[in-house]
Amino acid sequence: MGYLIGIDIGTSGTKTALFDISGKLIASSVFGYELFQPQNGWAEQNPEDWWNAVVLGLKEVIKKSKVDPKDIKGLGLSGQMHGLVMLDSSYNLLRNSIIWCDGRSSSQAHNIFEKCGNKLIKITANPAMPAFTAAKLLWVRDNEPDIYTKCAHILLPKDYIRFKLTGVLATEVSDASGMQLLDVPKRTWSQEICELLEIDTKILPKVYESTYISGYINDEAARLTGLYKGTPVAGGAGDQAASAVGSGIIQEGRVSDTLGSSGVVFAHTDKPIIDPKGRVHTFCHAVENAWHVMGVTQGAGLSLKWFKDNFWEQEIIQAKKQHIDVYDLLMQKVKDIKIGADNLIFLPYLMGERTPHLDTFARGVFFGISNIHSKAHFARAVIEGITYSQRDCLEILLNMGIKPKSIIAGGGGAKSQYWREVLADNFRQDVSTVVEDAGGCLGVAILAGVGTGIYKSVQSACNDIIQPKTVISPNLENSKKYDKYYQIYQNLYSQLKDTFKKLSEVK
Ligand code: XUL
Repeated sequence: MGYLIGIDIGTSGTKTALFDISGKLIASSVFGYELFQPQNGWAEQNPEDWWNAVVLGLKEVIKKSKVDPKDIKGLGLSGQMHGLVMLDSSYNLLRNSIIWCDGRSSSQAHNIFEKCGNKLIKITANPAMPAFTAAKLLWVRDNEPDIYTKCAHILLPKDYIRFKLTGVLATEVSDASGMQLLDVPKRTWSQEICELLEIDTKILPKVYESTYISGYINDEAARLTGLYKGTPVAGGAGDQAASAVGSGIIQEGRVSDTLGSSGVVFAHTDKPIIDPKGRVHTFCHAVENAWHVMGVTQGAGLSLKWFKDNFWEQEIIQAKKQHIDVYDLLMQKVKDIKIGADNLIFLPYLMGERTPHLDTFARGVFFGISNIHSKAHFARAVIEGITYSQRDCLEILLNMGIKPKSIIAGGGGAKSQYWREVLADNFRQDVSTVVEDAGGCLGVAILAGVGTGIYKSVQSACNDIIQPKTVISPNLENSKKYDKYYQIYQNLYSQLKDTFKKLSEVK
């Protein structure tokens, strides 16, 4: 019997999962770590924490599954995108990683636009953004020149783990697209963009297609994790492309919504199509000769986690006593609150926003607070606000000509039937899940299976393995109620845009 492993380096923790080759989940584990926020709008993590979580995760799944490590035929890596990992010439970490939701580099994003002009969209397929790796790298060059001069290699989060597992410095096209240094239509590094930004291409890792076997488990990694030395490691994918493969979003007409720390509405495309207003990202897909477009809510699960950590102390204790997940308890309490949370609206812009506003200065808002509102109203408003932001993402994709037949929901948020109903009512689309909702882990295990020759192609593996389940159809009465709140939600940003900027300038 053969097995495959998928690892997903998330923002709240790393998930490791082992599957048999029919795609059945045999064992999984999650190990969490800290997010450091040295200033308002900044976000960093320590890559050593990711590595420790990977080592613990691999040991645990091998133990739980009782499989012989020799039978693990390949491993795929997925992870949070855009994060900047910097190494010196002896491969030592130079600083914490500045991660995807960090908004400190808005002036660098502006400079990227000034230097590259129209070439930026033509080559990288996206406008300049503080979220992308290039702006983060330029921030270090401008603000920490001592670190920048020592930098010999840059990597993305999952690619740092590849380096620790195999000793190879490499990435793959789906994740590399989010660095803003890749020629997205041609799927290679862009010499031209690097020259315009005065970035030496020598610091970039090799870039492969996502199924390519980029390296093999080395002695040290085998000793630490229990994996068999020589196990192949595939290119893998950025977390969004990985979850899309794991949800079967591998042909036109298929659309997913992943509610993780970020919230992403994702559509497969056969060509690199670009939103002229730059509100959604156009990246290479983890499938050869395919691309994808996606709208990103910066603070989806991140907003709910913030709310839970800061305001649900008692409920965390109650959930522990009842041996239930605190999010399940939260969903139970929220279900009894009316649509619209008795006129309480939340804007989920805790870490700025990408789609549709591309505004690093935007911040979260509760609007319409009255003394009838309880904690459960606030929780419901948070869930609805995140959903409205996802609706913003879907509307743009629909306007670009994407025609979903239905939406596959995934990520932690989609485990709640209640939240899937809110999605279906807002999207006016059928919303389903997939049988083995293992997020990005299954997606990259499939990519590793293709790379090692177990599966013929990503498409055929997905068609064999991934089955939709639990279809929820929209309740159009509810949709009409949500429409009224959604309009007010949309107006609020336009009214507050300038004030967000003014607030960011108060020191
Ligand atoms: C995608 C993005 C997030 C992160 C974290 O552009 O920034 O999805 O990958 O999940």
